[in-house]
Amino acid sequence: MTTEKSKTPVKFGASFTPHMVCSRYEEGKGWTSPEITDAKTFSLMPAAAVFHYGQAIFEGLKARRNPQGEVTLFRAEQNAARLRKSARRLVMPEISDEMFLNALRLLLEKDGHLTPEASGSGLYLRPYMFAEEAFLGVRPADSYIFAIIASPMAAYFSDDNGFLKLWIADSARAAPGGTGDVKAAGNYASSFTAQLEAKKHHCHQSLFLDAKEKKYIEEAGAMNVMFVKKDGSIVTPPLNGSILPGITRDSILTLGRDLGFEMKEEPLAIDDVFAAGHSGEIVEAFSSGTAVGILPIGELVRKGADGQIETVHFKGADQSFPVATRLSKALLDLQEGKAEDKHGWVKTYV
Ligand SMILES: Cc1ncc(COP(=O)(O)O)c(C=O)c1O
Repeated sequence: MTTEKSKTPVKFGASFTPHMVCSRYEEGKGWTSPEITDAKTFSLMPAAAVFHYGQAIFEGLKARRNPQGEVTLFRAEQNAARLRKSARRLVMPEISDEMFLNALRLLLEKDGHLTPEASGSGLYLRPYMFAEEAFLGVRPADSYIFAIIASPMAAYFSDDNGFLKLWIADSARAAPGGTGDVKAAGNYASSFTAQLEAKKHHCHQSLFLDAKEKKYIEEAGAMNVMFVKKDGSIVTPPLNGSILPGITRDSILTLGRDLGFEMKEEPLAIDDVFAAGHSGEIVEAFSSGTAVGILPIGELVRKGADGQIETVHFKGADQSFPVATRLSKALLDLQEGKAEDKHGWVKTYV
């Protein structure tokens, strides 16, 4: 792992701070107190359950510097709650808010000084948990590891004209009653075929449709999506049990209302979205997620019923994506301590 020098991070997730936090759970004993250690390798038995039955979940959040130079976190309790929900779904032990937030504090006290300063950058924190017990047999494990690692990251920019191009995936990400609404590691593994499809069609990522009817927009592999209509309203797919409830998504719904936008959670049929994009009824689209933030989605690309490739463009009113830009600034200003935090979402850690 690297480095004290990773102050100018280039690529997301490519370099890490020198420390990590670790805790171990054993049935009957509970969790050990999280401890800070040097970033190190894990020692696991070949039969460790995570390798075979996939009990692995994670979270992602970003520490940022405010103008006073303090290191802050945005709605970290929401990450704690989502990790518990993921744990319950995969029959793993839960972690209290207190333990989760203390573990984050421990790591930030040690490595928080490596939080980059530039606007939009931050120290990406990755809390995760996996099954440690060594056995073969299909049942939940009885011992687990919880850890947090940290990776300095620059602001995310798309390499293509500042906007994202999304490919409408052929494969499904999550089915009703499955694990789509939690951060189970397996969800990501199963989205890689769609990622490859996207690359093949010169798109950045895939946008998934519902698994049952292949009709309604759900989300991309690691971000929620929103669409801006000509009348100024903003629509995002409702949380239907197979979409991850993004903390950024929830925050944008509130912030958008604060700014006077009509924010709606409504099913969006893909055919309607293509038609509305072509007719100018939908003027903008944008991503919503911790790692990417709010980035304009400039194009959706799909294979039509006739086998032909169809592209719809969302260029914003004057090709400058005014709504995505305004919301992005509002969210970033709040997260970076440059705007009033009237919802009490930002807390100082170091
Ligand atoms: C599948 C998926 N959807 C949406 C999101 C956005 O969630 P958040 O805004 O909490 O980062 C993420 C990122 O964690 C994700 O992995």
